[in-house]
Amino acid sequence: MRVTVVGSGFVGATAAMRIVQKGLADDVVMIDIVEGLPQGLALDMRESAPVEGFEPNVRGTNDYADTADSDLVVITAGLPRQPGMSRMDLLGKNAGIMRDVVRRVAEHSPSSILIVVTNPLDEMTFLAAETSGFPRERVMGMAGVLDSARLRYFVAEELRVSPTKVDAMTLGSHGESMVPLPRQATVAGRPLIELVDEGTLERLYERTREGGAEIVGLLKKGSAYYAPSAAIAQMVNAIAGDTGEVLPVCAWCTGQYGIEDVYVGVPARLGRAGVREIVELDLNGDELAALRAAAEGIRSKCSDLAQV
Ligand code: NAI
Ligand code: 2OP
Repeated sequence: MRVTVVGSGFVGATAAMRIVQKGLADDVVMIDIVEGLPQGLALDMRESAPVEGFEPNVRGTNDYADTADSDLVVITAGLPRQPGMSRMDLLGKNAGIMRDVVRRVAEHSPSSILIVVTNPLDEMTFLAAETSGFPRERVMGMAGVLDSARLRYFVAEELRVSPTKVDAMTLGSHGESMVPLPRQATVAGRPLIELVDEGTLERLYERTREGGAEIVGLLKKGSAYYAPSAAIAQMVNAIAGDTGEVLPVCAWCTGQYGIEDVYVGVPARLGRAGVREIVELDLNGDELAALRAAAEGIRSKCSDLAQV
């Protein structure tokens, strides 16, 4: 399994490091437009192998020929948010980068699966699918695993339990139209709604929706990368290992949840073919309405892409 990570900034570099350290691929290629950056970071990672105890199968390049025949390509190339910027402010700049990157990836790795990370996530995932012409099950976006991880952590912090005991999922868009699912969330197997009152629940959801901005505000320069790269590695593991794990990802809907022909965050079973299937949870009327509203919001933003 060859995994290429496009963009060797904070998210790309930490994702590559996690993938290599966890041994999720036989060959990891880092690529960036900045000369020397991916080569230097990959060398630095390889030099940590004797101490950390992993196979040093990571290399850096500025040439897409070196990424040829990748099975999986993670795209993190593009500008991150700065304080005061929304993910949408990145649309114009990152659309140009995404088109350029995806054309080159599709030329050199025509059978690959794409995991899009660049923001604004849902719209960039659609653009990657359009530009590549790949079957839609081979193009997906990472956001739901990250948003869910944030929610799980905030619940754990609130209830003073280990984050590993908290299960929760968010669907919808990576942004204001995120759809949390209170009825599906559990803490050590107990329903979350029995453990916290509605006000607390709403506060935790609000913090999750604003989770990216909270980190941007603290860092003052750039955005989060530890939790995003952990989320990427979980998706890579599910695909590379053909595990069939169900994760919330930005996937192409073809009628599931009454949503058609749009990318939106939904639970998806992942494997070597990409998205094996979209899993339909038993959502109530409000949850369904929120998910459909998120999908319509993304659809309308995607139609703006033709102008940028
Ligand atoms: P960064 O600025 O640290 O890294 C971006 C890298 O992309 C830079 O090294 C830059 O040289 C490279 N790049 C720019 N144009 C390129 C091109 N045409 N080809 C190859 N490489 C190119 O930014 P960071 O923090 O790594 O974030 C990357 C992207 O991921 C941003 O758009 C950010 O908003 C997004 N993001 C998305 C998340 C999600 O949940 N989907 C979570 C965190 C970040
Ligand atoms: C995040 O949620 C900025 O989308 C990025 O951290």
